[in-house]
Amino acid sequence: MRSHDLPTLAARVQEIPPFYVMEVVREAQRLESMGVDVIHLEVGEPDFPTPEPVVQRASTALELGRTRYTDARGIRALRDAISSWYAGQGLDVPADRIQITQGASAALLLAAAVTTNPGDGVLMADPAYPCNPRFIETVGGEVHWIKTSAATGFQPTRAMLEAVARTSDRALMLAHPANPTGMAVPASDLSEMLAWCRETGRHAIVDEIYLNLSFNPLKSSLVSSDSHFVAGSFSKYFNMTGWRLGWLVVPEYALTATQKLAQHLFICAPSFAQDAAIACFQEDVLSVAESHRLELLARRDMLIPALRALGFQIVLVPDGAFYLFVDASALTDDAQSFCLDLIRQTGVALTPGIDFSATLPPTWIRIAYTQPIDRLHEAVTRISEYLHARI
Ligand SMILES: Cc1ncc(COP(=O)(O)O)c(C=O)c1O
Repeated sequence: MRSHDLPTLAARVQEIPPFYVMEVVREAQRLESMGVDVIHLEVGEPDFPTPEPVVQRASTALELGRTRYTDARGIRALRDAISSWYAGQGLDVPADRIQITQGASAALLLAAAVTTNPGDGVLMADPAYPCNPRFIETVGGEVHWIKTSAATGFQPTRAMLEAVARTSDRALMLAHPANPTGMAVPASDLSEMLAWCRETGRHAIVDEIYLNLSFNPLKSSLVSSDSHFVAGSFSKYFNMTGWRLGWLVVPEYALTATQKLAQHLFICAPSFAQDAAIACFQEDVLSVAESHRLELLARRDMLIPALRALGFQIVLVPDGAFYLFVDASALTDDAQSFCLDLIRQTGVALTPGIDFSATLPPTWIRIAYTQPIDRLHEAVTRISEYLHARI
């Protein structure tokens, strides 16, 4: 086939902006292939292994032949386990409202597909996790960015929604806490924004993938409303990124539609992974997950003063997740080149903030503290030497 005969791809894929961090990732791979010791602070995934009882249970599930399709909603025992987990947090989320999905990614795509017509606007804070706008655009929706600032923890407020919303905006998507900032939405703002969605007949979708990795006692958005979608995941808190397992709490009004679509789009989430994930809610696994959360907190508290001393501005102390979103304007006016030069000179890999925001100045950087504390100390030493060498 000659090149001019090639069929044209859909506009939605042509318009996807590149991941600028890929340049850093490629450089990391090149350096590693040459034997350089790279410290990976660019990857948004915890460094802890999946808890052993979960692995054991998966292995038993495989031996028992649990490798076939399951109920499209997910296996009942897992939905019951998630429902009881919510009950332990004082929340009444019946198993019938829980849809098991392939990670929060499929949960968010499903919520987007159920709520958004082509041309509908979906309100979303800038900065954001770059895949969240893609879910909306994939179903033909248009992201209506809400420019935020450090003053509100890079989260929107009801007043901002009221100021910017157009009639065509049919939904609001929030992340609580968010990536890249680790900032949650304060409880009062959350309930006011959910109330605004109810009052104005808009859908609300809240991505709570990092909720359990929070350092302040954070509550689910389900505390203030049960008429919105909530995405959860086994990826981060239970260190199961590759298992592809999460869930969507579905409001009553959208249950039938969501189940129908989930069945047609995905059939089901991986069956043995669903079985294994039941073990996540055992006491021994929950205490391992809790120790990881505390370890992340210790890493955050070690890194913040160390990075500040190097000249990175950290205005916001994150509520959760494992990210620091820092302003490097005192060190560079181009974080993309800074990150690239840094990895080449020191082997420390960071993510330029441009991947998360179209409106912030290009001086922001996301640092994922997904390495043991001694490696974080090593990273700080290398960055310090690099900065001193530049003077
Ligand atoms: C805010 C946010 N939402 C969703 C996801 C997707 O997670 P999952 O692995 O559950 O699909 C991520 C992954 O990094 C994320 O940061």
